[in-house]
Amino acid sequence: SRRRKIEDYCRDLVINNDHISRMEQRLRESIEKGLDKKTHDMASVKCFPTYVRELPSGHECGKFLALDLGGTNFRVVLIEIGENEKFEMDNEVYAISQDLMNGSGDDLFDHIASCLANFAKARKIDKEVLPLGFTFSFPCKQKGLAVGELISWTKGFSCKGVEGEDVVTLLKNAINKRGDIHVDVAAILNDTTGCLMSCAWKNHNCRIGLIIGTGTNACYLEDLEKVGLWDGDINNPKHVIVNTEWGAFGDHGELDFIVTKWDHRVDEGSINPGKQIFEKMISGMYMGEVVRQVLVDLVDEDLIFAKQPLENLRTRGRFYTKYVSEIESDQVGDYTQCREALKDLGMTNVTDEDCSALRHVCECVSRRAGFMVSAGITALLKKMDYKDVVVAIDGSVFRFHPHFENIMRSRIRQLMGTEYKFDLMLSTDGSGRGAALVAAVLMGECAI
Ligand code: BG6
Ligand code: GLC
Repeated sequence: SRRRKIEDYCRDLVINNDHISRMEQRLRESIEKGLDKKTHDMASVKCFPTYVRELPSGHECGKFLALDLGGTNFRVVLIEIGENEKFEMDNEVYAISQDLMNGSGDDLFDHIASCLANFAKARKIDKEVLPLGFTFSFPCKQKGLAVGELISWTKGFSCKGVEGEDVVTLLKNAINKRGDIHVDVAAILNDTTGCLMSCAWKNHNCRIGLIIGTGTNACYLEDLEKVGLWDGDINNPKHVIVNTEWGAFGDHGELDFIVTKWDHRVDEGSINPGKQIFEKMISGMYMGEVVRQVLVDLVDEDLIFAKQPLENLRTRGRFYTKYVSEIESDQVGDYTQCREALKDLGMTNVTDEDCSALRHVCECVSRRAGFMVSAGITALLKKMDYKDVVVAIDGSVFRFHPHFENIMRSRIRQLMGTEYKFDLMLSTDGSGRGAALVAAVLMGECAI
């Protein structure tokens, strides 16, 4: 039957337990390679030490600014932390146009500084000098808490003149050039670190920060003695948050045993071919496009969408990842959201059989992503000595996909064994709050 053919066709997207174990083991090896000074340069997974050593105690206080760049939204955030779990947040989203994402670094940082200035003036804090935490969600090599050199852009950004530069200097220059606001840039951090800090403020067992959004990445708290790359001081606390940049896993062929022709096409059509292979099989910037690539082949094999207008479906990037979440939100056998998504693509006369096939393709792609993230988290849990770890999680795929969390819980449970205790915790306030906390921890606890 046609359904049978479709399932056969999608078989390459199905990964089994053996695949997952292999992936988990290889990722663990890659992380070791990244952490070791001798092999770091050759490693795909870079494992950058972040210089964030202390998790928040819950007794921080003060007024802070934060910038949050690199997810779906660019935000400027104002935060006030005080006694008795007081945490007030005021934030504003500003657009980053395609032109800014792919233009010059100067234009990007001028824009960021201008949004910050507008925000500060509107809140009448432009005459104060507040500490600022900069969440910059791209791979950076840090040389201190407030020094971070961009290694390479990811997730569709490609501004010229930024790679190889200290991003904090670029931000400070753009702010100083204006002369109308003054801030104290206290820290630069990755969104994974922001997510971990934000959740650790409430839950002291948080030791992993995970993002499954536009991109995917994880950070975790590692013992200094296992971080060969570490050349800072070795005083207490004897650990540091490591930003794995696991999105680049697979860039050295480690995932070739499960990469499909559809993944190849997604990669070739991206602005960074050959890079971020793990990320491209998982995250929101690419998931819809993987589904689209499969659908286009099914159409060419006459297995789906007979007599439908296909112009949109044949357009790169036009099958949004949010459709995957919507389609999988329908009850089994109901295709209400599925039909809505197809209507959005200009297809109005689809059969139930088409809808069911489309749902199957979405499930194959999203389950694979869920399994891959689970392999990643398992690799980290197995590396860590702690036995009761809470994983702090943020990002649109985790938030909006109806089954992602369940897939992860059951898969990690299976991989870790029933004895091991772990939990997943959704981060509710984003990384801006974590950025403020990094700055706040620096200032020490409140005087009561
Ligand atoms: C937000 C964080 O909540 O989630 C960002 O504040 C982060 O720092 C983002 O980058 C990740 O999700 P998405 O889906 O927006 O890429
Ligand atoms: C990309 C970035 C990484 C970030 C992740 C999630 O992988 O390189 O720094 O944490 O996306 O936003």
